[in-house]
Amino acid sequence: MSALHPDLKRVILSTEEIQTRVKEIARQIEHDYADAERVILIGILKGAFIFLADLSRELNIPHTVDFMSVSSYGDAAVSNGAVRLILDLRKPIKNEHVIIVEDIVDTGSTLQYLYNTLKLRKPASLRTCSLFQKKRESKDVPIDYKGFELPDVWVVGYGLDYADTHRTLPYVAELRAEVYE
Ligand code: PRP
Repeated sequence: MSALHPDLKRVILSTEEIQTRVKEIARQIEHDYADAERVILIGILKGAFIFLADLSRELNIPHTVDFMSVSSYGDAAVSNGAVRLILDLRKPIKNEHVIIVEDIVDTGSTLQYLYNTLKLRKPASLRTCSLFQKKRESKDVPIDYKGFELPDVWVVGYGLDYADTHRTLPYVAELRAEVYE
């Protein structure tokens, strides 16, 4: 691998580790939805677009993708947990099998908001999938398909960003504290 970008302290998850786990999650979903006519994967922009692209191409069952975008109120660092909808789905999800696909669950506010919002639309089933979860206290919202737990440091890559940078790295790395302090 070429030298790490100077903003980065260390690689936490390699490309190979991530790709292996994405395949495992796809196999789990295929198993769980073997009898479903189709599944709708809902990617949460922006962070989930890379995971969603890899997961959906790995998935050997009928499925479609759609997207939502949400934002925390105020400065993320002092967020009170309130979330607002920026971009909604193109189509209704009533009677559909739906999986919310996130890159990361941190406080859990976003996933909780999305789960509650989509549940009201009466899907046939609603599950949650997040490739990463920060190891810290988070809201009690179940993650049905979880890839990895990450330390409570600033992580970038594979969809995760720092001020929109480093998002498209194929691995996950820890950002040096000097960069954001
Ligand atoms: C990240 C991530 C989740 C959310 C999780 O999105 O993609 O949607 O934060 O945080 P929470 O569990 O504390 O609610 P972000 O707001 O950074 O937007 P982005 O995906 O567009 O970068």
